[in-house]
Amino acid sequence: MRPLVSMILASLLAGCTMPVEDPASVEAAPAAMPASFVGAEAATGDAKRDHGKRLSVVLGCNSCHGADYRGGNYSDDPDGGFIFASNLTRRMPDLTDEQLIKLMREGVHPRRDALWYMPAKTLQRLSAPDTDALIAFLRTLEPAGRDWPLPRGGEATGALLDYGIIDQSPALVEEYRRNLPPDRGNALALGRYVASVTCSECHGAALQGTSSAPPLTGVSALGRERLAMLLRTGTRDDGMSHGVMKFVAVRNLSSLEDAERDALLDYLVALGPPEKAE
Ligand code: HEC
Ligand code: HEC
Repeated sequence: MRPLVSMILASLLAGCTMPVEDPASVEAAPAAMPASFVGAEAATGDAKRDHGKRLSVVLGCNSCHGADYRGGNYSDDPDGGFIFASNLTRRMPDLTDEQLIKLMREGVHPRRDALWYMPAKTLQRLSAPDTDALIAFLRTLEPAGRDWPLPRGGEATGALLDYGIIDQSPALVEEYRRNLPPDRGNALALGRYVASVTCSECHGAALQGTSSAPPLTGVSALGRERLAMLLRTGTRDDGMSHGVMKFVAVRNLSSLEDAERDALLDYLVALGPPEKAE
């Protein structure tokens, strides 16, 4: 992270005087899994906001909304396809917790058409304590920077849509609610949870693969060491280098706790080949 940005964030967090919210205020979504990121359950006050800040990195909120959460231009094309990731620092005060939860779990905005590109499909799977902590962190953002125009469709948007790079958020929520990554028992619940809210965004609802990312069922064939290296660096020891995965490994997965990374690896190794449909 650039020093300036981390300084700004640090000062925002230090100056924060928001009231602590009642943890019981967020109820689990139907697709939530019986697990949370490490440290979610017990966290209150500053620890809860720190947890939410870490989740915002793991879940990639700041990959799309910018390191400073001020948003920006996503796709800019002379043919008229424009997508902007909102300036969260300015938009947060206009959204109640209830509206925010609906937005993250259904991709529905209280005052706009269906949202573009917001990964509600996977965010609906966040546990209640994780959702609560994420919101507590977002409430510490001080309004700064400019607002962006609402996205409008165009040729570029259409092409990105056809290619499966972007989607309208509510479209996939139902599919992701019904198709969860395979259950490999309680001992592997944390790994399954981490995969279901991170990897699933690109590798598919049940990790079965999509038009833009390969299936994760069967990656156990790579072996645990090679998988561990891939998650750390986005590169494999056989010289194969991954573009998107490198980005994900460096930007997002580096903020996983060791216990979460280990649990994820255990789960991936146990995943095995895809299950036959019933
Ligand atoms: C893949 C990119 C992407 C990721 C990841 C992402 N967002 Fe978004 N988000 C967007 C885009 C694009 C919009 C604007 C969509 C629109 O207006 O149709 C948006 C809109 C929003 C809005 C609505 C704000 C408004 O304009 O009123 C909120 C709140 C939000 N995102 C929060 C989050 C949070 C919290 C996370 C992380 C858990 C997150 N986003 C992750 C792309 C993303
Ligand atoms: C933003 C999209 C995205 C996310 C999120 C993502 N991946 Fe990937 N992943 C890809 C793409 C695309 C590829 C194909 C190679 C490339 O272009 O990087 C890939 C490739 C891989 C491969 C290599 C498969 C092979 O046979 O070499 C593994 C393993 C993998 N991802 C695991 C994961 C895991 C585990 C997670 C979650 C912790 C994850 N990925 C999250 C997009 C993503």
